[in-house]
Amino acid sequence: MNRGFWDHLKAPIIGLAPMDGVTDSAYRYMVCKYSKPTLVMTEFTNVEGLARGAIGMLKAFEYDEIERPVVAQIYGSEVESFYKVALMNCFLGFDGIDINMGCPANKVARRGSGAGLIRTPDLAKLIVQTVQKACKDFFNGITLEEANIRPKIIAALKKIDKYNEKDRRLLPVSVKTRVGFDSDITLEWIRHLIEVQPANITLHGRTLKQMYMGLANWESIGKAASLCKNTGITLLGNGDIKSIDEAHQKMTQYGVDGVLVGRGTFGNPWFFSNHSPTPQERAQAAIEHCKVFEKLNPGSKFFIMRKHLGWYCRDFDGARETRSKLMQSENSEEVKNVFKEVFPALEEES
Ligand SMILES: Cc1cc2nc3c(=O)[nH]c(=O)nc-3n(C[C@H](O)[C@H](O)[C@H](O)COP(=O)(O)O)c2cc1C
Repeated sequence: MNRGFWDHLKAPIIGLAPMDGVTDSAYRYMVCKYSKPTLVMTEFTNVEGLARGAIGMLKAFEYDEIERPVVAQIYGSEVESFYKVALMNCFLGFDGIDINMGCPANKVARRGSGAGLIRTPDLAKLIVQTVQKACKDFFNGITLEEANIRPKIIAALKKIDKYNEKDRRLLPVSVKTRVGFDSDITLEWIRHLIEVQPANITLHGRTLKQMYMGLANWESIGKAASLCKNTGITLLGNGDIKSIDEAHQKMTQYGVDGVLVGRGTFGNPWFFSNHSPTPQERAQAAIEHCKVFEKLNPGSKFFIMRKHLGWYCRDFDGARETRSKLMQSENSEEVKNVFKEVFPALEEES
């Protein structure tokens, strides 16, 4: 089995979970700058759309060197598209590729992608093998043209600064999934995945049906971890972790190789360091995050930042009023002016 960077991680593994609409390159940059998780993953990207030529989707594959190891996460149900997009990920210099088999959104799972793949284990396994094959073919020197990737996509890929056809590393393939579709079938499902030897499995302790409700079932995660022992596959648990202490407690209690943390990091790029930021430090980080976002997304989509601003703005008198002003902001300068009303010292710092 090829484990690539997974074999070189410092234990324990405490990584940033992929979150669509949240963990874009600006967010990952902030988290890596302030507390450096063991690894990060991109937001999930649809293979069918990209393989057919929706080159705007390549935006999701932007990353900074500070993020390494950085894993591209992809989703879909069409084997051929997985092959093509996995090859693109290799050319873009990622450290690994993760296949999403956990997204519960209707538009994803109803089409048999994301958590929908839990109901079609044969297809799920074929997809893992296909992505593994793409990684091997890349390593052995295949070109994008030989893989029948559309010229328009090849041209777009070659414009990305990370594009590299010389340094051909063999990327490891991992899977992120849930404990079941409408009921918990952890052991049966994980046994299927073990057959195709992904380097790592990340298990969120909820079924698709639970969406994000109730509590993640860490007992099931623990059983999956036992099953993976001595297979060469690492297992990361995921769900509801709110602090580094809790991450350590879960790892000890359930015997997992590590964890990924998602929502617990909102508004707190220091999450992975155990530093508790003051409200002013959060405000400062919010402004910096806006600036990084603007640099990476010139002239567009600032509304994406507003949910982050809501998360940063907390734990001080008047936070609610400040938050509602931030929700109207259109750029980093306006954000800075709103925060300055509460924290005048910010003026010199940012
Ligand atoms: C807004 C949001 C977007 C998400 N997008 C993704 C995604 O793109 N890929 C993925 O594998 N999981 C996605 N997830 C699931 C998270 O990675 C994670 O499994 C889940 O939030 C549970 O972990 P937590 O309790 O630490 O947040 C998303 C979750 C949220 C809240």
